[in-house]
Amino acid sequence: MKKYRVAIVGATGAVGNEMKKILEERDFPLASLKLLASHRSVGRILLFKGEEIAVCELKKDSFSDVDIALFSAGGAISKEFAPIAVKNNVIVVDNSSGFRMDPEVPLIVPEVNSDDLEWHKGIIANPNCSTIQMVAVLAPLHKEAKIKRVVVSTYQSVSGTGLKAMIELREQTLAVLNKEKVRRKVYPHQIAFNCLPQIDVFLDNDYTKEEMKMVNETKKIMGDDQIKVTATTVRVPVFLSHSESVNIEFEKEISARKAKKILSKAEGVIVLDNPLQNLYPLAINAAGKDEVYVGRIRKDETVPFGLNLWIVSDNLRKGAALNAVQIAEKLIERGLV
Ligand SMILES: NC(=O)c1ccc[n+]([C@@H]2O[C@H](COP(=O)([O-])OP(=O)(O)OC[C@H]3O[C@@H](n4cnc5c(N)ncnc54)[C@H](OP(=O)(O)O)[C@@H]3O)[C@@H](O)[C@H]2O)c1
Repeated sequence: MKKYRVAIVGATGAVGNEMKKILEERDFPLASLKLLASHRSVGRILLFKGEEIAVCELKKDSFSDVDIALFSAGGAISKEFAPIAVKNNVIVVDNSSGFRMDPEVPLIVPEVNSDDLEWHKGIIANPNCSTIQMVAVLAPLHKEAKIKRVVVSTYQSVSGTGLKAMIELREQTLAVLNKEKVRRKVYPHQIAFNCLPQIDVFLDNDYTKEEMKMVNETKKIMGDDQIKVTATTVRVPVFLSHSESVNIEFEKEISARKAKKILSKAEGVIVLDNPLQNLYPLAINAAGKDEVYVGRIRKDETVPFGLNLWIVSDNLRKGAALNAVQIAEKLIERGLV
């Protein structure tokens, strides 16, 4: 079997570190692994399968010995370096928002739209974390009863902002409990013991960028511009896993029972739904897992054909690193690398 030379750009970050772990766990056909980050990390040694690998600085000439690059160092870095990598015949799987809505770039959740990989031109975009877990559940239901409208409210963990935010939540929590001064750097308000109805910056329409990512990326991945999506995204003091309350209106009848049956067969989705046993997906249980969990599946009694449900997944894994590695695996499987 052919083996591939892989680079992780942003290897020292929350997502990059998870990418390294996932490549370790899976039977990925690796010939070599290159770890790239900023000049600040040069000399840092990271372990991969027990082997020490020195982190190198990302530079224009970093890609001569690479086949696949997994980018996770922010949009600006992707915009600058992904085209350079492509010029060096590298296939880029980009985790940033840099290329997601570019019509020349497929936006992929492997369980939903792997066929879109066929028209890639060197860069494949990994969707936003809150969108990935939602479309994994929406797509099989859409096939059955055609979705008209989705109203989603998210409860997103601080790891979605990166390592610095995880440290901020820990430090603020300790400060509050010890009755010390709470310091904030990452978020505009205290996140410990609080909920912030703002993720990313506000846009002209008073929605946040994260909210509009959910609206636009859902349509692109599901290949249907007609689906109406409206979102409120909220940062909550949870370290790992995003949770989402999702209300769906369909064109046709679909019972909660039927939805559970469809979702229990959907790839990468696990139904956890037993109100009598207080069983439903929880952030702490989804952390470290690969699947998207769905529960609280019930009829919306206020519209002719509607359902309410609760979706939880590990944002660093399926929401970012795992989805990116799965994209690379699909490219290999389809002979597109
Ligand atoms: N966290 C999530 O759940 C999530 C989900 C989906 C998408 N994303 C996206 O993934 C990307 C990374 O997120 P993260 O949460 O992992 O952030 P993070 O923990 O802050 O890590 C950022 C990474 O980027 C590297 N970097 C920064 N400036 C660089 C430069 N000039 N040259 C090379 N490398 C540079 C950092 O290296 P140093 O350590 O050397 O600074 C670090 O490895 C972002 O685009 C984010 O929007 C994140």
